[in-house]
Order: sequence, then structure tokens, then C-alpha cells
Amino acid sequence: MTTVSAPGKVYLFGEHAVVYGEPAVPCAIEKRATVTAELREDDHVRVEAADLSLNGFVVEYAGTTDHRPDVDVPQPLLDAAMGYIDAAVQQAREAADAPDAGFDITVESEIPLGAGLGSSAAVVVAGIDAATRVLGEPLDLRELADRAYNAEYEVQDGQASRADTFCSTMGGAVRVAGDDCTKLSTPTLPFVVGFDGGAGDTGKLVASVRELRDTYEFAADTVEAIGDIVSTGESLLAEADPNSEPSDELISELGDLININHGLLSALGVSSRSLDTMVWAAREAGAEGAKLTGAGGGGCIVALDRTAETQTSLRYTPGCEDSFRAELATEGVRVED
Ligand code: MEV
Repeated sequence: MTTVSAPGKVYLFGEHAVVYGEPAVPCAIEKRATVTAELREDDHVRVEAADLSLNGFVVEYAGTTDHRPDVDVPQPLLDAAMGYIDAAVQQAREAADAPDAGFDITVESEIPLGAGLGSSAAVVVAGIDAATRVLGEPLDLRELADRAYNAEYEVQDGQASRADTFCSTMGGAVRVAGDDCTKLSTPTLPFVVGFDGGAGDTGKLVASVRELRDTYEFAADTVEAIGDIVSTGESLLAEADPNSEPSDELISELGDLININHGLLSALGVSSRSLDTMVWAAREAGAEGAKLTGAGGGGCIVALDRTAETQTSLRYTPGCEDSFRAELATEGVRVED
């Protein structure tokens, strides 16, 4: 039996545009998905998930997911969760050359599903790592990140970047542009997250941006402008001392870029009333910048604020279900005792 955890993430900048090869900077946060894998004697997969916003479910199947029994949780959410877990199992079987391996899998997650905090990437990364380890074929981090990307790519019908899975595997702040993925050295940034209790459908949101981009040249320009924001932000981060507290000037400049990034994402139609309300509440409370994080449509915002004001103010914002300070997770995927 092996237990592995992997972190969720927030996007400092660049979601959606990263799907088209523009750079993005996601940052891993100390909210983890934990997957335990145990080998079975048959080729079945039994999945038990206590969290994942699903009120808990247990599913056992053999062969394909079509053999799943009905369970008492909303089918779309179940399909989403099972799709990622299935894809992770397939990647692990392939990596270890063990096509008939069966597993008992338990998923525990502090990361709400579809809320922009990288829950699916964290489950996939931890799942592949745990399953390959129990098969005695642990992967190096690059291969793990690649296989996790393949799994997301498949589940999201080819609409995925490497950003979420690379960030969850490596931890810390990373830069992703197309296939080019690197770790960044950044100072610790004072992230505050607001969560509206909801979720967006990543596949649909990515498809809607693609349609806009294909239809209107100015939408394609908007995607490119997000890439320019990321490049400007990266230069600011590169000049900062990773071992010191970020200066007020850095936070203020990053905040401006974050605000513009949110405006452009909103122009591309991926914000929502609750996300906009939380973004404005954070700014009015004194946050240096606030934007949606992840695919949008509902879920989370991320703000930069050193004081406690934003978190407190979000707590009293209508439509905000939870707010918390998110520490940068310097460690990515890791084996738990
Ligand atoms: C979703 O967390 C981030 C998107 O950019 C999609 C992706 O990068 O795969 C919207």
C-alpha cells in the first residue's frame, strides 16, 4: 500500500491563454489531494472518495467505466472524478507495463472539484505516482508530469495545457509555455483565496474561449495580451530576491498585472457574477490585485494581500463560501507515511 499527496495550485497569471502556447505562471499551494493505492489480486479497480465535493462515494468496476454501478452522487460530478481517476490508472498500468493490474484506491482531497485550484491535476499526479509505486515502477518527476498531462488531455478531449499537472508534480511556482516547463525561484507571495462554493466545467469553458478566439481577431489578440502580461510578470519575479520578503513595490506591480489579467479573462467570458463580486470585494478590502483562478465560470479567486483585511472581508461577501490564506507549497508530489 502506498500513499502519495500532490498539491493544488492558483494561477498568478495566464490560465486559458496557456492552452494556445502563451506562457502561464501557476503556483502550488498547501491544499493537497492524497491518494492511497493498494494492489488487488484481480483486475478490478475500487475507488473510494470521501471528499471531492461528492459527499463520499465508493465505486468498483472491471474493464471500462461503463461497468460502473449507479451510485447516489450527481452523475456529472461522478463522471468527472471517475474520468480522471480512470485515466490515472490507465497511465500507471501503461508505465509499469501491467495492463491487468487492479487497485483499491482511496482519494482524500482538501481541494474542491472544478473550483480552479487544480483538484483534477492533483488527483491524477498523486494517483499515477501511488499506483506506479505499488507496482514497483516509480516514475521520475518529468515522466510523472508527462503522464499526468496525458491523462488530463484525454479526459478534457485534447483541451489541456501542461500547466496544472507540471505545477502539481514539481511544487513551487512554475512557468509553462507549450511543452516548455520550468521551475521558477520566486519570493513567497501573500495569496488569499475566495471560494464561491461552486465549480466551472473546464472542458466547456476552454471550448468557449477557443470559439471566441477562432471567431474574432480581437479575442485572439486578448489571448495574446494575456501572454504579454505573463511575460511582464515573469520579468518582475526574475528581478526579485527569492530568499527575501517581496517588496511593496513588487506586490503592487504584480497586483496591477493580476487586475488586468482578470479583466481580460472576463472579456473572454470565463468570469461569473460571484467571481467578479469576490474580486471587487478583495480589491475594496485593500488587496493589491485580484483575479479568478483556473478555468473560471465559478469557483475561486486569488488575491494578493499581506494584511488580514481581504480574507476577513471575503468572509462577509455575499456568495463567498470560504476564504483562506494559501501558502506556497514548495514541495510537489510526495510520498506520505
Ligand atoms: C484550468 O485549470 C486551466 C486552463 O488554462 C486549462 C488548462 O490549462 O489546461 C483553463
